[in-house]
Amino acid sequence: MQFSSELIERLAKAKSVAVLTGAGISAESGVPTFRGEDGLWKNLKPEELASMDAFLKNPDLVWQWYQFRRDLMRDITPNAAHYVLADMEAKVEDFTLSTQNIDGLHIRAGSQHVLELHGNISRNRCNSCGKLIEHSFEEEKKAVHCECGGFVRPDVVWFGETLPAKPLYDSFAAAERADVYLSIGTSAVVQPAASLPLEAKNYNAYVVEINLEPTEISSLVDEQYHGPAGSLLPELYKLVEEERELGKNH
Ligand code: OAD
Repeated sequence: MQFSSELIERLAKAKSVAVLTGAGISAESGVPTFRGEDGLWKNLKPEELASMDAFLKNPDLVWQWYQFRRDLMRDITPNAAHYVLADMEAKVEDFTLSTQNIDGLHIRAGSQHVLELHGNISRNRCNSCGKLIEHSFEEEKKAVHCECGGFVRPDVVWFGETLPAKPLYDSFAAAERADVYLSIGTSAVVQPAASLPLEAKNYNAYVVEINLEPTEISSLVDEQYHGPAGSLLPELYKLVEEERELGKNH
């Protein structure tokens, strides 16, 4: 891929970089995206499964969907794109990684501070009393109950629910002070996360999208690169590192 010298220079010099990732960054690790061809489960869209309405109507069905996704995620490992972001965090003065992903792969790749906007599928909590439940329920095929009688659910954010306040606040604050903002592997349709790159743009960041295909926000960003994040990010990062070295020697 031919990356612009403007992007390489800006990234090499940036004091503040913020990133938003979506399901696409984990696709090459084997996690299906939500809106891609393999995103449907039993012909149901995520909006028909990831909601309180869906859970209350059919807790077993929603539980099974999450158990299916947990099974898929059991043996996965981070890919090159996750590792590049972990390395960037170590080298950029002010670096913020916000993710919509619930797969924990950024943390496993070594990222220290990950703002998980939609929760984490490895945790459960009670839908009634809210207690965090430290049990994986790997073998459970039907929704299980908390000792209070309520249903246990994955500790993730569903459609119609509020995102955790601190990660959301910190994500917007980072977007507002970023010199460069990267939007990676997200269709940028689910709010409020989808507004982060645009917030960054409004606050004068140089906004770049890396995605397999154009998205809702492509026409609004400064540059867009189409291809798999697992190859594009390492390629770009190598050039940025070379530029940084050059800068040091001058
Ligand atoms: P989507 O499934 O909506 O979008 C994934 C994006 O990644 C698409 O635009 C793909 O083109 C792109 N993509 C796929 N493979 C890629 C690759 N190897 N490299 C780069 N890009 C690739 O996923 P999200 O935008 O994360 O929320 O979805 C946002 C939210 O909607 C999710 O967090 C989830 C979902 O419903 C909730 O469950 C609340």
